[in-house]
Amino acid sequence: MNKSILIIDDDIDLCTLLGRYLSRKGFDTEATHTGAKGIAKFNEKKFDAVICDYRLGDMDGKDVIAAIRKQNPNVGLLVITGYSDIKTAVEVIKLGAFDYITKPLIPDEVLNILHKILQTPPEELGQERKTRPVSEAGVTARGKINNPDFYEGKSPAAKALYDQVNIVAATNYSIILYGESGSGKEVIARSIHQLSARKDKPFVAMDCGTLSKELAGSELFGHVKGAFTGALQDKEGHFELADGGTLFLDEVGNLGVEIQATLLRVIQERKFKRVGGNKEKEVDVRIIVASNENLRDAYRKGKFREDLYHRFNEFSINLPPLRSRREDIPAFAEFFLEKATTELGKKVTEYEDDVMEAFLSYEWPGNLREFRNVIRRAVLLTEPGKKISISSLPWEINNKNPLTTREEDRSGTEFTPAAAITASPELKEGDLKSKNQLKDAAGRAEFETIMSVLKMVNFNKKKAAELLKIDRKTLYNKIKNYQSS
Ligand SMILES: Nc1ncnc2c1ncn2[C@@H]1O[C@H](COP(=O)(O)OP(=O)(O)OP(=O)(O)O)[C@@H](O)[C@H]1O
Ligand SMILES: [Mg+2]
Repeated sequence: MNKSILIIDDDIDLCTLLGRYLSRKGFDTEATHTGAKGIAKFNEKKFDAVICDYRLGDMDGKDVIAAIRKQNPNVGLLVITGYSDIKTAVEVIKLGAFDYITKPLIPDEVLNILHKILQTPPEELGQERKTRPVSEAGVTARGKINNPDFYEGKSPAAKALYDQVNIVAATNYSIILYGESGSGKEVIARSIHQLSARKDKPFVAMDCGTLSKELAGSELFGHVKGAFTGALQDKEGHFELADGGTLFLDEVGNLGVEIQATLLRVIQERKFKRVGGNKEKEVDVRIIVASNENLRDAYRKGKFREDLYHRFNEFSINLPPLRSRREDIPAFAEFFLEKATTELGKKVTEYEDDVMEAFLSYEWPGNLREFRNVIRRAVLLTEPGKKISISSLPWEINNKNPLTTREEDRSGTEFTPAAAITASPELKEGDLKSKNQLKDAAGRAEFETIMSVLKMVNFNKKKAAELLKIDRKTLYNKIKNYQSS
């Protein structure tokens, strides 16, 4: 006998389309367009599952769910919520829905969830599900991020960020983290894992940025001995390693198109095979991805699969760059100072005033990572018991680089390495009065080019030298010359 599905949605077109689609897939469907009628229908007839919109014209979705669950606590409920409306979605799960789905609906996704509902024993549908670890505490109380290397910050931007982290941690949603290099994407991913019910299971990070096309499959899904040249023994992939826990895919935009297709299938089916193997393995993995570029733009440009993007984008978090949360700079300066002095076993407790000024006016292209490194270096260069002085800061900060301290550059909210390269200050003819000034100008231009490239590669001098097509020693010498001039 066909399974019967009740659809409650005030969007008549959607009901018709979904109804037709599900009938083609072998279901019997009935649709009602108000909450009240939906409840009445449910009371008069037995349904195997209910698909219900959370925003109905006549009733609150909450009350519809409650009424249906009261009638039959073991019914499988799939709730349709507004786009990325996380609070509602969490609430819906708490109310006992099996799952939620966001508009626009992807029919295959609906079908997939329906299959899962129908495969779950009814008694289990009535219980709180293991895979939906939404605890009262997780949602309402702010969890403490238990990591001594982590500092939250006090700015409104920081507060907004950690509110989101706290809310989403309690769910199983896939998350996209956007943010510049060094802004703390991995730190946030770990925090989300730690605050989640998966915290006792592994957190596995994988850098997709450095992955070759050939190895991507084996890294993600493992391989069996002999699968390819060099596969000398069976190997577990990151998915298996992260089973029960969280898999963090860094620089996910760099994954090749082929592996994106495989990944999509694995996420949909929660099953995979090792490369060269034929045994299916099941995994329960929460996925968090990070990207420097906007994945929506990437799929529009055809570089990223749109369906995979939607899978990942159950929730997204934008990490602010440090320069847009300058209020946090003094507190981070204290935090990193304390860390560095403990690490290095050195008693340095204060900054000279102009150091803090320099921190506050610098652009921090490498964000928190750069800030931490700058402070470590300064502590190393400071004598015990003395205050940190401006001379212990790296040249790009204490040199008052015109590129980064000009007001018009600072007022821009977005700073990209590409912008840095094109934003060199214009030189006017009158500026070049003497030979010396010409030399200065040339030196300054060179200084700026080197700075821009260094920023672009996050101060990786090896990479910068490669890009500038000079050897590393020449780069070091040039930097030294600027510092001493
Ligand atoms: N909230 C924080 N509290 C303390 N330190 C932090 C925080 N966020 C980031 N950091 C510091 O910055 C470093 C870089 O953070 P992380 O690796 O998470 O950045 P990322 O955004 O993943 O960078 P990339 O894009 O380069 O991979 C961390 O190792 C840590 O030292
Ligand atoms: Mg990272």
